[in-house]
Amino acid sequence: MDRIRIVGGNELHGVIPISGAKNAALPLMIASLLTDDTLTLENVPHLADVEQLIRILGNHGVDISVNGRRERQGESYARTIHFTCRNIVDTTAPYELVSKMRASFWVIGPLLAREGKARVSLPGGCAIGTRPVDLFIEGLQALSANIEIDSGYVNATAPAGGLIGARYTFPKVSVGATHVLMMAATLANGTTVLGNAAREPEVVDLANCLNAMGAKITGQGTATITIEGVRSLSGARHRVLPDRIETGTYAMAVAMTGGDVILEDTDMALLDTALEAIRRAGAEITPTNSGIRVVRNGAGIKPVDIVTDPFPGFPTDLQAQFMGLMTKSNGVSHITETIFENRFMHVQELARLGAKISLSGQTAKIEGVSRLKGAPVMATDLRASVSLVIAGLAAEGETMVSRVYHLDRGFERLEEKLTRCGAHVERVSD
Ligand code: EPZ
Repeated sequence: MDRIRIVGGNELHGVIPISGAKNAALPLMIASLLTDDTLTLENVPHLADVEQLIRILGNHGVDISVNGRRERQGESYARTIHFTCRNIVDTTAPYELVSKMRASFWVIGPLLAREGKARVSLPGGCAIGTRPVDLFIEGLQALSANIEIDSGYVNATAPAGGLIGARYTFPKVSVGATHVLMMAATLANGTTVLGNAAREPEVVDLANCLNAMGAKITGQGTATITIEGVRSLSGARHRVLPDRIETGTYAMAVAMTGGDVILEDTDMALLDTALEAIRRAGAEITPTNSGIRVVRNGAGIKPVDIVTDPFPGFPTDLQAQFMGLMTKSNGVSHITETIFENRFMHVQELARLGAKISLSGQTAKIEGVSRLKGAPVMATDLRASVSLVIAGLAAEGETMVSRVYHLDRGFERLEEKLTRCGAHVERVSD
């Protein structure tokens, strides 16, 4: 199994191209199930999760072709992928596939809307918490779906004439349930109004793509989304928005090591709250024509307290990375996680590098240390693993991160992007 070897101590200088967002690409790909026409997505990142979803969609009858590779510095990236689902050949999403990637549960929305039925495995537990699906079920029931849970599967059926638009207010903000209800409502009879909807940029990206396919959605990006059902959707061409989590991760890496890096093909507006926290920690952040410049010279890292929250709050998907940065601050900081109940798996691993962190409930107290020392560490989930990379970049000596498959789920060419900026990072295959 591959590992990542990091020798810490180098500043980062150069340009890092930011990929298309994984968490936008996945629901956008799933939206291809809603039409018999071709949905073309540009700027799709090359990630293990995307490849896995390609396999899952293939099972349901989606024809997929990859082309239009854009060349940069001799390498292809930002793929253009065509998805065509003339007929849905299977409305079942089996446990073997759904348990590997939670987002594949989201096919329930389009399958139910287009075929009137879906049988989708419950996703099961995952490292960061229990992550139930009650909001999906309640929301689909509000659209008049009949739902039964049987032998680990959710069996959903729509009334004979299709789903029926309704008002539904989420008792808790959920990105996935917002994606699913929005997709399901596009083909429902009548109008659906979703209250307390997720406002994440990826929800807006999906709504914009659905509108390009002929849907009638308004209010995306606010807490109230209105979807007027239409009879059918057509194909469209849509560019996946930049990955705000990758952007924030590299911005934190530069704040950690010091240096001067341009993050290209991204947009500050996608992550205001996180950038503000990085600024307060001592980095200068300015917009450029096509992205963001992050600089930290000389001055040390200041302690900053953060609390994770749904968008526009500080993203839970950047919490581990920010903790990595805070391990070397010149004071005491606190990080409170409010979205997932078990998203502190990185604490024990950061401690192996010399970090001083104590946990009390959902809050971590981080006492900054002046030096971290490289050690073998283990990745436990996607964002936790990249926090270990950030810490390793500023640790003395060698850090070896194992279980790199977590990183490959969400970071495209991480070691190449960092190496080009002067870091000593390499993939070691056993
Ligand atoms: C999305 O997950 C992202 N995944 C996650 O990113 C991200 O951490 C999360 O949103 C929060 O921003 C993708 O977009 C593919 P939620 P999702 O439903 O949609 C609870 C990463 O590292 N909940 O917004 O699954 C849930 O347990 C991943 O890229 C219910 O209680 O998250 C959690 O506490 C990890 N019942 C909270 O809501 C439900 O039916 C928010 O989860 C659904 C969710």
